[in-house]
Order: sequence, then C-alpha cells, then structure tokens
Amino acid sequence: MNIIKEIPSKETYPVRQPVLRKDKPIESCIFEGDDIESTHHFGLFNDEKLIGIISLFKQSNLIFAEKDQAQIRGMAILENNQKKGFGEALVKHCENYCKSNKTELIWFNARTAAVGFYRKLNYEITGKPFDIKDVGEHYLMFKKL
Ligand SMILES: CC(C)(COP(=O)(O)OP(=O)(O)OC[C@H]1O[C@@H](n2cnc3c(N)ncnc32)[C@H](O)[C@@H]1OP(=O)(O)O)[C@@H](O)C(=O)NCCC(=O)NCCS
Repeated sequence: MNIIKEIPSKETYPVRQPVLRKDKPIESCIFEGDDIESTHHFGLFNDEKLIGIISLFKQSNLIFAEKDQAQIRGMAILENNQKKGFGEALVKHCENYCKSNKTELIWFNARTAAVGFYRKLNYEITGKPFDIKDVGEHYLMFKKL
C-alpha cells in the first residue's frame, strides 16, 4: 500500500543522499530553510518503507509575477522504484497541497535529465540552461495552478 505523508527534514536524508547527493557527505543533504515553519517535506511510503521524497519551500522567484509561489526541491525516488508512477504521485500531492493553500505558481530548478518527467506533468521551461555548482545543468521550470 502507498501512503504520502508529511515527514521531518531529517527523514528525507536516506533518499536525498543516494539519489541526489551520491558520494557526498550527509551535510550536503541539508538545504537552507529545511526547518522553517513554511517548509514542508512529504514522503511516499510503500508498505511502510520510505521510497520517495519531495520538499516544498515558500520561496518566490522574481522572474514570475505571482504573489504566492512555492518552490519544489529535493524531488527523488529511490533508484529501484523509479518509473513506477511514484514521482508523479508526489508532484500531484504537492500541487493539491498548494492549491488548497492558494499558491498560484510552482517553480523549481530541474536537472536536465528530469526535464522530460516534469514536461509530462505540464511544467514549462523558461530561459536557458544554467549550471548549479557540484550538481550540474538545470532548467527553470514552472506551472501556474
Ligand atoms: C525524476 C524522478 C523524480 C521521476 O520519478 P519517477 O517515479 O521515476 O517517475 P514516474 O514513474 O512518476 O514518471 C511519470 C512519467 O514521466 C516519465 N519519466 C520519468 N522519468 C523521466 C525522465 N527522467 N525523463 C523523461 N520522462 C520521464 C515516465 O516514463 C512516466 O511517463 P508515462 O506516464 O508516459 O509512463 C525520478 O526518476 C528520480 O528520482 N530521478 C533521479 C533524481 C532526479 O533527477 N530528481 C529530480 C531533480 S530536479
């Protein structure tokens, strides 16, 4: 059975580290703002085992005019569980959470390898690709809710 529920930031590390910070120290899994009240972390549990995570930050990007924006960060599914629909379920969970909080727009910096995944969920690219140090090439993507 699959369940998505809110989890503390520390519980994301066992997924953040192998998927997003491979071969990097655990400290690299701590994101600025992880523990402020407006930040929310969600975990997808498959038979009580955490297999996917997503974090939602109340963070605006001045490129967009919308007043109420949220940024997705730390989207990751454990390797053996990828391409089974879990990532989509987590993004949709965040979208519903945002809609119920009157958030007007979701944006994030997407790794180039993940752009196709977000496009399937109707996110759009804006601007040119850019590099994030130690992580690689990214695109700014967004969706108006
Ligand atoms: C990218 C990621 C979050 C997607 O989650 P997932 O559970 O594997 O994806 P889903 O199974 O929900 O895929 C939904 C759809 O997107 C497609 N898709 C998944 N990953 C894709 C990718 N990297 N490129 C293109 N399409 C992709 C799936 O085939 C599926 O399409 P379908 O509905 O036609 O079958 C996951 O693979 C992951 O953690 N990757 C490594 C870390 C990463 O890149 N995170 C994002 C950082 S910005």
